[in-house]
Order: sequence, then C-alpha cells, then structure tokens
Amino acid sequence: MNGLFITLEGPDGSGKTTQARMLVEWLREQGYPVLATREPGGTRIGEAIRAVVHDCAHVEMAPQTEILLYSASRAQHVAEVIRPALAAGKIVVCDRYFDSTYAYQGYGRGLPLPTLRIITDFAVQGLIPDLTLYLDIAPEVGLQRRARSGGELNRLDREALAFHERVRAGYLELAAADPARWRVIDADRPPETVQAALREIIGHELARMTTNSIC
Ligand code: TYD
Repeated sequence: MNGLFITLEGPDGSGKTTQARMLVEWLREQGYPVLATREPGGTRIGEAIRAVVHDCAHVEMAPQTEILLYSASRAQHVAEVIRPALAAGKIVVCDRYFDSTYAYQGYGRGLPLPTLRIITDFAVQGLIPDLTLYLDIAPEVGLQRRARSGGELNRLDREALAFHERVRAGYLELAAADPARWRVIDADRPPETVQAALREIIGHELARMTTNSIC
C-alpha cells in the first residue's frame, strides 16, 4: 500500500506545529503508522542547514542562497525520509514543504515563481503532497501570538508586516489554484476547534482511500 502525504502550511504563529502534533497523536491512537517531520530539517543534514538558514546573525544572506538552502534541505528530506516512509505505507505529516518556498521566497521575497518551480521540481523529483492543510491567520494576529508565546524569532519572523501579508496572500492564491489538494482552515479560533476541523478533513480522506482500495 502507498502511504498518504499530508503537509501543513501557514504563516508564522498560525499554530501549525501544535496542530500537527495533535493530529499525529490522534492518527496514532487509531493505529495508523505515522511519520511526523518538518522543514527545514527532518534529517541530520537538513537540521544543519536549518541552523544556517535561520541564524539571525546571517543578515547578509542573499535570497538565492536562501532558496537553495531550503531546497537542499528538502531534497535530502524527500530522498532519505519521506519517500521511504510513503513506500512503507505510512501517513507522513510534514510541517511545511515546498509551498512554503513559493509563499515566502516567491510571494514574500519576490523571487520568480517559474524559477522556484524548476528548483523545487529538481529537489523533490515529482513528490507532491496528497493533501495540504493551510492554517489561515492574519499576520498581525500570528506575529502577536508568536511574540506572546515567547518563542525564539528566526530570520524570517523578523521581516516587516508587509512581507508577511504578501506571504499570506500568496498562500491563498496557491490554495485557490489547486482546490483538489488544498484545504483552507480558519486558524483564528481556539486550538480544539481548529483541530476538530483538521480531523474531519483527514477522516474524510482516509475513508475515501479505504473505499477506493476496496472497490
Ligand atoms: P519554524 O521555526 O519552523 O517555524 P514555523 O512554526 O513558523 O514553521 O520556521 C520556519 C521558517 O522558515 C518560517 O519563517 C518560514 C520559513 N521557510 C521559508 O521561508 N521557506 C521554506 O521553504 C521553508 C520550508 C520555510
């Protein structure tokens, strides 16, 4: 059996990481084999790249370097972790994937999307998520949440509000262009409400997969 590849996307402070953790717990309780992972990172090499790309001291980083680092981390992640897990029939829940590159480096930084697509295709070799859950929140609310949680701010969190507004608009455009893969979830609600919405979507998808494999 082939696995199911689910990605979570959202602006900073959308609660994505907490939601991913709750979703994974729920799937495991039901007995599904699940791999929980994240980008940038997910492998030894990827975590080393993450440290470089998020280091606030690296103010001189060129946008081209940034995209190549995210993509290098992703290439390793796909080859070493994601593809083998899917081949073993697992549900892969990945906190950010290539849509983050389109939203942040494309819409946010203004790098040309066609170039980003070529680099991404090379990195992932055709591996597209089955389902992308987008947690939508206004950037000012997301950034306030992040500041309140006291978490460390990375190089991208420190960008101006206008950058984060472009990122959000980019996500919404990406979602609208491919409704078969994307689901947009209002994340400006209590965590349990958001989680219930995610579970309903995934439950539906799993039921559909089971029906299809029986037919
Ligand atoms: P992280 O600390 O993992 O926080 P979050 O909870 O927001 O995911 O930071 C990931 C940051 O990296 C986030 O600001 C978005 C950025 N990013 C990109 O700009 N491009 C990418 O391709 C990826 C994967 C992440």
